[in-house]
Amino acid sequence: MMQEEVLINLEGFVEKQLPLLKSVEESWQPGDFLPDMASDRWQGEVEALRARAKSIPDDLLVVLVGNTVTEEALPSYQTWLNRPPGLKDETGASVNPWALWTRGWTAEENRHGEVLGRYLYLSGRVDMRSVEVTTQHLIRNGFDLKSGNDAYKAFVYVAFQERATKVSHANVGRLAEGYGDPLLARICSTVAADEARHEEAYKRIFGMILVEDPSNAVLALDEMVSQKVVMPARLMSDGADGDLFEHFALVAQRAKIYTVRDYAAILDHLMHYWNIAGLTGLEPEAARAQERLCGLADHYQKRADRFDEVIARAPKERFRWIFNREI
Ligand SMILES: [Fe+2]
Ligand SMILES: [Fe+2]
Repeated sequence: MMQEEVLINLEGFVEKQLPLLKSVEESWQPGDFLPDMASDRWQGEVEALRARAKSIPDDLLVVLVGNTVTEEALPSYQTWLNRPPGLKDETGASVNPWALWTRGWTAEENRHGEVLGRYLYLSGRVDMRSVEVTTQHLIRNGFDLKSGNDAYKAFVYVAFQERATKVSHANVGRLAEGYGDPLLARICSTVAADEARHEEAYKRIFGMILVEDPSNAVLALDEMVSQKVVMPARLMSDGADGDLFEHFALVAQRAKIYTVRDYAAILDHLMHYWNIAGLTGLEPEAARAQERLCGLADHYQKRADRFDEVIARAPKERFRWIFNREI
């Protein structure tokens, strides 16, 4: 069966998942968390925010900036979801369930970069221009997963990434709480809760693709995860550091916010959720992929130990985002 046919068959299923998105009326907005600049109390609120933000250490700040920039590259992600036939929004305002989902998802995601970016701006802790330059570079550079127009691969990817961003935002929030910034903690845990709903939807969608077209779905899954899953902000640049993404990822790893162990745990979770080991009747090539997939999480767990040593030895780096301080 052609992918496009499978996607058309799933329209009814996707329609039933639309309630995983919240209506605008029941959604939080960035302004709900931040000082109300129209109120007489704005100055005190801003000062309180800045006082609490002083407690955030540099490593946490760098990861927060990297996470923010990743969220801000949303135009690239929406464009990417709009490419596969059967999935794309044919008019720009289509009422096809796939189009309704993608636009609704984008509208929710749009608040993430907004709330984090406004927090960073008000905190006074970062070189805001350098953060903004990084976002502009990232959107210009784009986002290529080498997944072509393959919708199956796209859903594997988003299921993985929603869970990864959930872990990362939740960990930043937890650490911020510990350092004495409950506002940042609340912002990050709220964003993480959005990611959790998105993750659920994408896992269900790929689960249905596995039912409809099991062998091709397993092959797509294998191709996406058997090489390391490419991160969305891989092409970020601040115009100075040629390996900015690698340096950011290293800080996240050292701070235990997003690590190789998290990566392995996400793979393990997805393989169990989709019951990859239990699939039967696959075509020979897909059956070989199934076997590979079942050993993958273990492989990364083992690599994690070796990776700890690499990280311990890695030199400190300077980040423009935090006024060229070294971490
Ligand atoms: Fe997000
Ligand atoms: Fe998300």
